[in-house]
Amino acid sequence: MKEFTTNIWSVDKESDSLTGHPQIIQASLWIKNNEVIAFPTETVYGLGGNAESDEAIEKIFAAKGRPSDNPLIVHISSLDQLEGLVAEIPKRAQMLMEAFWPGPLTLVLPKGEKVARRVTAGLSTVGVRMPDHPVALELISECGLPLAAPSANISGRPSPTTAQHVYEDLKGRIAGILDGGPTGVGVESTVVDCTSEKLTILRPGGVTKEQLEEVAGETAMDPGLVSPDTSAPKSPGMKYTHYAPNAPLYLVDGSPAFIQKLVDKEKAKGRKTGVLSCNEHTHLYQADTVIPCGSHDALESVAHHLYDALRAFNESEAEIIFSEVFPKKGMGTAIMNRLEKSAGGKIITE
Ligand code: TXA
Ligand code: MG
Repeated sequence: MKEFTTNIWSVDKESDSLTGHPQIIQASLWIKNNEVIAFPTETVYGLGGNAESDEAIEKIFAAKGRPSDNPLIVHISSLDQLEGLVAEIPKRAQMLMEAFWPGPLTLVLPKGEKVARRVTAGLSTVGVRMPDHPVALELISECGLPLAAPSANISGRPSPTTAQHVYEDLKGRIAGILDGGPTGVGVESTVVDCTSEKLTILRPGGVTKEQLEEVAGETAMDPGLVSPDTSAPKSPGMKYTHYAPNAPLYLVDGSPAFIQKLVDKEKAKGRKTGVLSCNEHTHLYQADTVIPCGSHDALESVAHHLYDALRAFNESEAEIIFSEVFPKKGMGTAIMNRLEKSAGGKIITE
């Protein structure tokens, strides 16, 4: 693989107009040359490349070390880019676009002829979204191309919510990172299948099931999400272990006192311990490392802090990590999906 000096290109996302921004033009030139660069979205940082070029897509998979049977999401900045990208827009998908775009919702639709073969990993469908971030939108429109972009992490690691996280993972492997500051939502987009009879959530994320149901009526959860060991989940990415810190992580469905007992047992064996705790409970733990991840009364704040908190354990001495759990409703569904993946399904119940 080619070696790069990875540039960090700062862009003030609050500035009045990003049109003609020199750093964004710089990044777009790399993309037009079929290279890949990282950029901020409202969910997590993405690793973008020309969605119409198999050469560019191959570089995305190589930089991330991503299994090639896991399809990529294509990002657009205006609805006219759907031409040739999708074969058909059902009424239900149209309503969802009107309600949630730009925003953290990916629609799986029948694919059009322009999509590079490797983007969809052989599927007849393509996932598409319009991100709600001024830097992402300006980059896509400056390129004049739809951008295929997975999260900009090394495969298996927590998704990046800052340019620094991307740098830790992809330094030397990509030409540059557009730095638009920390992302807002903090977990990835919700992926919904619009080709099945009933609208089906393939990956919970920034738009909740409750919000989808307000617009599109009854919405199902992919059976692969409910019992995670189903052999063929509809969203191929959901079958891999993901979002994992280096030390083993256990979810604990129990009180802080119960979690502290688990910590004490490990300490007695001479192991360094870590706890992932809501802000309200951090003072209740005596572990080597206690990392807060937002307020249990505002699950949006937990989503926002989650990946940074998981990454922070890699800077600590923790050899075993226990994590609190959150209610599986609203944003809690996406948070628990990611935590269950980082734990590889390991859960201890009081
Ligand atoms: O918020 C996000 O969605 C971020 C930002 C960068 O936009 N992107 C992201 O991409 O999370 P990635 O590649 O890390 O995850 C894409 C997910 C995977 O689980 C993949 O299997 C699923 O979307 N997916 C993509 N295309 C699909 C398709 N045609 N059918 C089913 N699932 C699909
Ligand atoms: Mg990812």
